[in-house]
Amino acid sequence: PLLQEGLFKKETVKLKGELKTFAQILCEISSELGVSAYFVGGVVRDLILNRPCFDIDVVITRKVQKFAEKFARALQGEIIKKSLFGTFKIKAGAYIFDIAQMRWEYYEAPARLPRIAPGPLRLDLFRRDFTVNALALCPVTGQIVDFYGGVADIFSQKLRVLHVLSFIDDPTRIFRAARYATRFNLELTKTTLRAIDLALKFETLNLLTPARLRNEFLRIFEEKEPLKAILFLKKHRILKKLFSLDPDETLFKKAFHLAEVAGLGERAEIELVALLLAGSPEEFAKLELSTKKFESYQRQRKSLEEKASWLLDPAIPVSEKVFFLEKFPKELLCASVSFLDEDFLLRCFKHYFKVSPGLSGKDLKRLGLNSGPILGKILKKIRAAKLDGQIKDGEEITFLEKELKNGFPS
Ligand code: CTP
Repeated sequence: PLLQEGLFKKETVKLKGELKTFAQILCEISSELGVSAYFVGGVVRDLILNRPCFDIDVVITRKVQKFAEKFARALQGEIIKKSLFGTFKIKAGAYIFDIAQMRWEYYEAPARLPRIAPGPLRLDLFRRDFTVNALALCPVTGQIVDFYGGVADIFSQKLRVLHVLSFIDDPTRIFRAARYATRFNLELTKTTLRAIDLALKFETLNLLTPARLRNEFLRIFEEKEPLKAILFLKKHRILKKLFSLDPDETLFKKAFHLAEVAGLGERAEIELVALLLAGSPEEFAKLELSTKKFESYQRQRKSLEEKASWLLDPAIPVSEKVFFLEKFPKELLCASVSFLDEDFLLRCFKHYFKVSPGLSGKDLKRLGLNSGPILGKILKKIRAAKLDGQIKDGEEITFLEKELKNGFPS
């Protein structure tokens, strides 16, 4: 089913649409400069899978800067970044290109950034994370360069490292494994599992800098199903190696479901993960979060815990509970689903937190009320009446008039 009729034939891909145009431009510039250029990595994998790809990596044999400048000009794009490794990032419309010199990399120590040296395509592909990414495509012939069986692995849905020390060299690849395995439903090969065991055994995960670790989590949250990737990391004992709390799968599921309903942004998602996993300020810092933040969450979590049974009491009006809960950060509420009522939290995110008084301070002044803090109190009372089901939308003014007659607000 992965094989798209007519697109993938033997080891050749038929380029279509914009990619075809990019290939033509690559061909022209490479013959002008006398160099060879290839599409590499994710774009080749995605082409074979017939998936859209807007992040396109290109490697060339020499003259990277000249090439990048010409390529950017031809696409009416611009060079937006030059990386440490001499790679040029070009933005052209919806596409981002990374133009790099063909190279091989070597790691002087585990978890460090690699040293690089120019090298042939075979080595450029060998330095990569998984066989499914260790593919190149010649823009002239449309031929796939597959030294390591990446095409077969794509079709048999296998995630295979190029060598067993891959995760020792670069432990961020385990997080990439989590993304690819869940995104493409890939099964880890024996070598890949062994590579994880080795990285765990040699404690390389804790050598990653907070910035790199945080970045990997952020990339997980860009995936369609981040929860699956997080559960992959749990299953393979990665989370336990880095953090002391070890929430069960159900708690993750509940917290992530709440987070989705609450519409947490990327930042808050990282903080949710930290709240679920980190048992100390030091562990919090592993995701670039401050000790102060940890302490503040701890204090707030304590206030929530103290009110847990009060929140469950059906005699307490909904409005009081909502006014109490909405003072807390959403990510903390999601992470507190272990001791708070999940259904009530869901209703808060879906509905209660969004209930508005339906009138503004301006409206009240127009109705003849004097400005001052009293207006805020009145609006709060109208909102409470709505939350407690005493009035519906559109009934605010009648309610207000009735209450004013009774000397409202108290
Ligand atoms: N790569 C690697 N090891 C890493 C990071 C990247 O080997 N730690 C290689 C992979 O070959 C990858 C390429 O560099 O294909 C580009 O990296 P990136 O843009 O992060 O990955 P994509 O393959 O484009 O994957 P995604 O679909 O997640 O963007």
